[in-house]
Amino acid sequence: MLDLVFATNNAHKLEEVQAIVGDSFRIKSLDDIGCHDDIPETGHTFRDNARQKTDYLFSKYNVDCFGDDSGLEVDALNGEPGVYSARYSGSRDMEKNIDLVLERLARKEDRTARFKTVISLLLNGEQCFFEGAIEGRIIMERQGEQGFGYDPIFIPNGYDKTFAEMSAEEKNKISHRAVAVQQLATFLKEVLKR
Ligand code: IMP
Repeated sequence: MLDLVFATNNAHKLEEVQAIVGDSFRIKSLDDIGCHDDIPETGHTFRDNARQKTDYLFSKYNVDCFGDDSGLEVDALNGEPGVYSARYSGSRDMEKNIDLVLERLARKEDRTARFKTVISLLLNGEQCFFEGAIEGRIIMERQGEQGFGYDPIFIPNGYDKTFAEMSAEEKNKISHRAVAVQQLATFLKEVLKR
């Protein structure tokens, strides 16, 4: 079994990735390798931020690793909140962040948006990126109680309910994160065959 460090301590993300990747790889958290640092995320793109995480881990711990960065891109807001999704209003309060998106979209006709995830992988010194996106639109008011982040205001194309009105299982089949993780898993399975 090969060890692969995931630049996160989010147990839910770890479990999800481990389940998709299978048991040929042991996915370790930052805690597992004794990393308690606040890894910088100062990039202007999801790719830059994901790369920062793996560069940091590789330079400090010399481990095979991957890291992700995600967020919401709203077309009429020139791609905002983007890399600032977690703190768009200046705080991590998601109620305020959602209010700000709704306020800035109030007089806009185009409400198209997408969630995106970029994963950076550093394996045997080789750098790869995997991307997942789900297209949809921002509705006028919150709907639904499940999920997190901007889920209550995002309806994916082909659906008539928000991410926050879906079960975790239903969302995880189509989410940006699931698409990116699936690509990572496919790549890792190929690596094992080499
Ligand atoms: P992270 O890079 O996965 O931590 O995501 C950064 C921020 O993007 C989160 O704090 C959320 O505000 C937003 N975000 C990412 N993925 C989702 C999602 O699946 N639903 C809702 N919001 C999300």
